[in-house]
Amino acid sequence: KIDIALDPLEGTTITAKAGPNALAVLAAAAEGCLLNAPDVYMDKLAVGPGYPDGIIDLAKSPTENVQAVAKAKGVAPSDIIVCVLDRPRHAELIAELRGLGCGVVLIGDGDVAGVIAVTDEDTTIDMYMGQGGAPEGVLAAAALRCVGGQFNGRLVFRNDDERGRAAKWGIDDLDRIYTRDDLVTADVIFAATGVTNGSIVRGVHTRPGYIETETILMRSKTGSVRRMLYRNPVR
Ligand code: FBP
Repeated sequence: KIDIALDPLEGTTITAKAGPNALAVLAAAAEGCLLNAPDVYMDKLAVGPGYPDGIIDLAKSPTENVQAVAKAKGVAPSDIIVCVLDRPRHAELIAELRGLGCGVVLIGDGDVAGVIAVTDEDTTIDMYMGQGGAPEGVLAAAALRCVGGQFNGRLVFRNDDERGRAAKWGIDDLDRIYTRDDLVTADVIFAATGVTNGSIVRGVHTRPGYIETETILMRSKTGSVRRMLYRNPVR
């Protein structure tokens, strides 16, 4: 028996607008090893690999987290680049980051790719912060468990209906801060196929005679990362 976390189209609006980083995403682990996340928001905080354990902490302010990462990286807080979903609810967070002089990369949608971006030096993104979907948080934590990096997540319940949903899903501590390994408690495989072009994989391409997709497949047990180009003949 296995647990599967699945987002067949992460980035519906991205796809509609042909923007970057829409993905079909799946994570799989042994039964009971992926948090059964209710469909609510999650506060997310992530940093790439190579930092001391516990360098990020959602219980602390964005400023404190940026300062901690900057110190460990040996740079000024103003050299840190943070990715944030471009939403009115993040106005205060964005103002605080800009007040520190941080670079703020605002994305329209797609925080699974936003979190994974912290693991890839080419993106220049150091940290991910802000609220997005909780199921997407579990998927992002699965990716980070494969390639390294730290993640903190806290479910956000905006009303009694959402709090009720938590009880139904067996969540009793509503304020709990989940680390990456609380969300994904054992070895996991993570696969993402590009729908539109993005920083992780290329999107679907229609060629004469076939449709080409690119998939990245990561395995936490071995640390392996495989990329697959699949050519699906069109008859
Ligand atoms: P969908 O593909 O389900 O629309 O999700 C896109 C997304 O941007 C996620 O990456 C993110 O976690 C969530 O929506 C943010 O929610 P909202 O659009 O309500 O701010």
